[in-house]
Amino acid sequence: MSRRDDLIARVVAGYREAFGTDPSELYAAPGRVNLIGEHVDYNDGLVLPCAIDRETIVALGDGPEARIEVAALDMGEGARDAFRLDVPVTRVDGEWQNHVRGVAHFLAEGGHDLKGARMAIAGDVPIGAGLSSSASFGVAVALSLSRHAGHSLAPRQLALIAQAAENDFVGCACGIMDQMASAASAAGAALLLDCRTLETRNVPVHPSLAITVIDSGIRRSLTESAFNQRRAECEAAARHYGVASLRDLTPEALEAGRGGLDDVLFARARHVVAEIARVEPMAEALASGDSAAISRLLTEGHRSLAEDFAVSLPALDRLAGEVGAALGSAGGVRLTGAGFGGCLVAVSDAAATGDIMAAVERDNAGAEIPARIHRFSPGSGAAPIVAG
Ligand code: GLA
Repeated sequence: MSRRDDLIARVVAGYREAFGTDPSELYAAPGRVNLIGEHVDYNDGLVLPCAIDRETIVALGDGPEARIEVAALDMGEGARDAFRLDVPVTRVDGEWQNHVRGVAHFLAEGGHDLKGARMAIAGDVPIGAGLSSSASFGVAVALSLSRHAGHSLAPRQLALIAQAAENDFVGCACGIMDQMASAASAAGAALLLDCRTLETRNVPVHPSLAITVIDSGIRRSLTESAFNQRRAECEAAARHYGVASLRDLTPEALEAGRGGLDDVLFARARHVVAEIARVEPMAEALASGDSAAISRLLTEGHRSLAEDFAVSLPALDRLAGEVGAALGSAGGVRLTGAGFGGCLVAVSDAAATGDIMAAVERDNAGAEIPARIHRFSPGSGAAPIVAG
């Protein structure tokens, strides 16, 4: 059985066990890996993520009128929730429940009436690895609840609803990148997204290149508070410069207006300005297969995340150093996602993936937790498997 068939079998069995009948609809939304443009989405910047071959699947069927019943199969024994649709949907103590409730709330608020449903949810995006298990969960729920009620929402609407749920119901001040990558990606391509306008362009990955995710095995901790703190620091820096967001700051204005700005806030702003400037060149290099340019851009990106944005860890720097040295100009590697653990992403000549593997093995010899390698081709965004 394929990975997806396994996951479908698991979610269908979970649905039967929870509700005693078969589901009639199935929907999927993928996780993502970000190639460049880190911590810039909430600064209105440019990002370049792509969908991975790991996803959340929702099995769904009719339920009692005006009531949603949910079984979250990966959230421990008997993880269930139920709420009514004929009164305002509210938050509860907990996390995954608020993704579902938040999505239902914001769909209704946007004028999309919902229908009662039973749903079982399961996924294989590793949690806490920087591959957006939350966004894939939220987008899968938004797609399934809206389709079940007969609404056909554009990917960008699904993404905005899942993001609003995460911001206002779950309490994470995330940007829009992850949800857009999960909702709007195209197979074989990375998604160049302007987070200010939400305009997108598919950037085909040159066939000579390979994308490799290196999971450090270190699961992030304290992310939410550190993440929200980074966001607040960026906003404080933007206020210092008198711009709406750091997207509006040129490298010249960054230096010229530095006077009176705290060193930490300056470093945060310097990361954002330099990182946004790396995105278009990375898109060009990805499309043309220019691995030397990719090597330079990803190496600079990692250094900037580690030194100026301070979201790396010594173990991740060491791993990135080993892999980067092994690749030379045949590709690059950097921390991906929010940081404080999780994954590195390498983009390289396909012929150099053996060098990545050898470097990771060398690093594993001295590491507390062994890193694991995953190669994949960019997949497509959220879609029904069996629509209602
Ligand atoms: C998390 C957030 C995203 C983005 C990245 C960092 O994944 O959910 O919105 O800010 O971190 O680039």
